Amino acid sequence: MRIKVELDGGVRLLWSTPVLQRHFEGADALNPALIDIVHQRETADVGIGKSVVGGWHSREDVMAWPEPEIGQLRDWIVEAVKTLMLPTTGKAAEATGAAGTISAWANILRPGGYHRMHTHPGCVWSGVYYIETGKPDIDHPTAGRLELYDPRTAVEMMALPETPFGQPVLIDPTPGMMVVFPSWLRHMVHPFVGEGERITIAWNMLLDIGTTNN
Ligand SMILES: [Fe+2]
Repeated sequence: MRIKVELDGGVRLLWSTPVLQRHFEGADALNPALIDIVHQRETADVGIGKSVVGGWHSREDVMAWPEPEIGQLRDWIVEAVKTLMLPTTGKAAEATGAAGTISAWANILRPGGYHRMHTHPGCVWSGVYYIETGKPDIDHPTAGRLELYDPRTAVEMMALPETPFGQPVLIDPTPGMMVVFPSWLRHMVHPFVGEGERITIAWNMLLDIGTTNN
């Protein structure tokens, strides 16, 4: 990582972690079709377990599904990764010489369902696209939220008023939101308490950097 932020007084921020959170134009129009597509797949396939508890996790073959809406989602994933590559490497994605491969899977969480804390080993970027977020119970403020953990070892040991160290980041998803983070970043999804369903497509990007990265 070559991210560097200069502040006044000689202060630098080191070991920054880039996270993208974005709502792509056209997402709201795409989501009803994606809901149907995911429901059809759930009906046809029991899926696999992985990190999900109390929900459905498809096979990791979503990018091979033939519907054009999946193609649109692929384009947004590529755009999101390109957006992150520039501040991370200092080069436009094309200039890095990296070739990307995406694996993706759909998730449906129903009331009580959640994802255990996990990382995505062996990948570079990971993300999630929110198709539907249901209607979380207002008495459960963390219901269905994505929690990102501070990756710095033992940062909570620094006693400081209103410390920024070791604090988790909670993301309140809305339909059409894409969130992307480094695959090593630990994260979990709080139990979905509320009405309806929380439907997402999660993905990993592997990058073959060949011999041009140095
Ligand atoms: Fe994940």
